[in-house]
Amino acid sequence: MSEQAEIILGGESYKMPVVVGTENEKAIDINNLRAETGYITLDSGYKNTGATVSSITFLDGEEGILRYRGYPIEQLAERSDFIEVAYLLINGELPTKKQLDDFSEAIKMHTLIHEDMRRFYSAFPTFAHPMGVVSSVTCALSTFYPESLNPHRGEDKVNLTMTRLLAKFPTIAAWAYKNSIGHPVVYPKNKLGYVDNFLNMMFSMPTDEYEIDPVVVNALDKLLILHADHEQNCSTSTVRLAGSSQANLYSSIAAGVTALWGPLHGGANQEVIEMLDRIREDGGSLDKWVAKAKDKNDPFRLMGFGHRVYKNFDPRAKIIKKACDDVLNRLGIKDPVLEIAKKLEEVALNDEYFVERKLYPNVDFYSGIIYRAMGIPKDMFTVLFAVGRLPGWIAQWKEMTANKEPIGRPRQIYVGPKVRDYVNIADR
Ligand code: SDX
Repeated sequence: MSEQAEIILGGESYKMPVVVGTENEKAIDINNLRAETGYITLDSGYKNTGATVSSITFLDGEEGILRYRGYPIEQLAERSDFIEVAYLLINGELPTKKQLDDFSEAIKMHTLIHEDMRRFYSAFPTFAHPMGVVSSVTCALSTFYPESLNPHRGEDKVNLTMTRLLAKFPTIAAWAYKNSIGHPVVYPKNKLGYVDNFLNMMFSMPTDEYEIDPVVVNALDKLLILHADHEQNCSTSTVRLAGSSQANLYSSIAAGVTALWGPLHGGANQEVIEMLDRIREDGGSLDKWVAKAKDKNDPFRLMGFGHRVYKNFDPRAKIIKKACDDVLNRLGIKDPVLEIAKKLEEVALNDEYFVERKLYPNVDFYSGIIYRAMGIPKDMFTVLFAVGRLPGWIAQWKEMTANKEPIGRPRQIYVGPKVRDYVNIADR
């Protein structure tokens, strides 16, 4: 007999089935809770609530495990590349050579964005944060492809939308950067690879061709792999929730970009580098800043530390920390904040406050140091996170749609005023 949960309410016993996942994760299935008991659950921040069953990514926060479709992140980061990982996440299996070639070719054929979209960029102030530009222009893609708005979609239209997003997102992102520095945009070149193309659009100038460095390409490709998916995180849950109303994929992804922007989520990589620079400018006294991070009356937090799921090392942080040393050495760059970051990690990991709360460096703690070494400005760090997360968002939206999941609509417990009659303003 499969395991059941028993809930006793008002002297009545109610049995709820237990769902067991491939890796023995267990959940109490409360799909009929309200119908049977009249009760709902309450779980601020959904810390204990599973929104769905998914076959895409497995995380074990206690063991520091991360796998995409069963493949360990360490192996994918070492042996795969970002486009192959995008295929794996979206289609569920590693591609054959022909499948990968076709997938890459299809993407290459859609890297341009409609010339009319260039007017959006000139409408933004040059000081516009690129995340605001990228989320707006991504949503605007839906206005150029009205056939993609049909909620009953049709697989071919959805696949074309997925290809268009994977192809155009790096162009949208790089043009947001060029717009922010008042430089002319650089068009995609189909002879280049996915990451090379992005770097070329970011850094080439009419006056100077960007010299593509394989060390930088390889490091960025690895970073994109590490960011590609992370099960039901804040931005992915946003994409799924938006998509559950049958909103089109472009607008669902734009919603994900917006959620990722927050400093507690994808915006943390920019916050980390700003924090490390502040500490360096302040003379590098780590004890003062660690004390501030622990002080409940001080809003300062150690950005890049802590995680809702990982209560052990974020496996991505381990890989990025090692890549940091490699990339900076290969590029001959000495960034003083790398040493500060390493010391800060050591001090924090030996401090009871962080140990007790199981706060470890997360994916954002070291990534900004590598991005800066590549010449990427800090306002673009979260945009890079979004470029990496895009295939994961697409895969999750596709799974939610294929499973015909109902529109997401959480309940609440009302704690406002009881019923009362309107009072005319003269009598208030
Ligand atoms: C990402 O979910 C994902 O998978 C996200 C992500 C992905 O790939 O999609 O992994 C990407 O968003 C990584 C996280 C990036 N954010 C940061 O680095 C911001 C700093 N971290 C924190 O804000 C925090 O750790 C969160 C938001 C990441 C997690 O917060 P939780 O799970 O809600 O935990 P909490 O805030 O309840 O913290 C528990 C305790 C609290 O202290 P007490 O009330 O128990 O005394 O730990 C403390 C917190 O004050 N704490 C920190 C801290 N993080 C948590 N104290 C100091 N510095 C920190 N960074």
